[in-house]
Amino acid sequence: MPGLAVIGHPVAHSRSPDMQTAALAELGLAGEWTYGALDVAPEDFEATVAELAVAGEYAGVNITVPHKEAALAMADSASDAASAIGAANTLIFSDGQIAADNTDAGGLLRSLPATLAVGEGRRALVLGAGGAARAAIWALANGGEGRAEDHEGGRGEDEPPEQVHVPAFTVDVWNRTQERGAAVAAELGGRAVTAPDAADYALIVNTTAVGLGGEDTFEALPLSPDSFVPGQVVLDMVYTDEPSALLAAAEAAGALTVDGLEMLVQQGALSLRIWTGEEPSIEAMRTAVRRG
Ligand code: ATR
Repeated sequence: MPGLAVIGHPVAHSRSPDMQTAALAELGLAGEWTYGALDVAPEDFEATVAELAVAGEYAGVNITVPHKEAALAMADSASDAASAIGAANTLIFSDGQIAADNTDAGGLLRSLPATLAVGEGRRALVLGAGGAARAAIWALANGGEGRAEDHEGGRGEDEPPEQVHVPAFTVDVWNRTQERGAAVAAELGGRAVTAPDAADYALIVNTTAVGLGGEDTFEALPLSPDSFVPGQVVLDMVYTDEPSALLAAAEAAGALTVDGLEMLVQQGALSLRIWTGEEPSIEAMRTAVRRG
């Protein structure tokens, strides 16, 4: 029975086990596959993963804070996304070997509305310069597979969903600590900015934790509640059950909003597809994640 798990520290709050278990059940794999959570302290991370990889009971693991860099560092091979981003959120175990991937990048592209799947060089603003920002900048600066088209009644059971391609964006990066923003932008294909005008962007992505800590979103970020424009897309990676102050203001201005739970679903679906070779039900995952 192949095992899967999310490894983090702490990990008790993770919604991945409920979400992935729901996806496995919907695929009819609940009797064969399991998905759990492992709380592993940083000093035990490498030894624990090395053991899981050789023991043969696990097909792979998702990796979350604070282990994503360590996961890449110990892997025997890595995807282009994981190498460029410098972090792995997905490990695949096979014959005692560890392959690293990063589905945060693909998950972000797949969480974007189809309105962004056209036109080369649209402008995107990424707020932040940490690990989450690195995945976002790389994904947007390179483009890639986007959300599967929803077929209404037209798709046969065995037909794979039709992928749309999201063309590359011109990416601006704003960060509280400017030098860090400039370094990350230069490395990953963006351009550092200090005073962005929100109206210039087809897409704004918040990768900072602003909105979780009780600080005033519009004091901490270079945006004002009335700076959004209708039709633009605003994605906040923070996930809370209520819309964040950022998304509430964006929505009030007529922007399209995407929250962190949608990204969680999309990155999780990509990981599950890598391990099982099956296309999981996004709807089943969304339902599970929003119940948590
Ligand atoms: P992650 O891997 O989740 O992206 P991280 O590496 O700790 O986390 O990065 C956190 C990001 O949020 C950084 O861009 C940080 O800005 P600094 O580089 O200036 O530290 C940003 N951040 C965190 N708290 C913030 C706040 N109150 N206001 C603005 N930016 C904040």
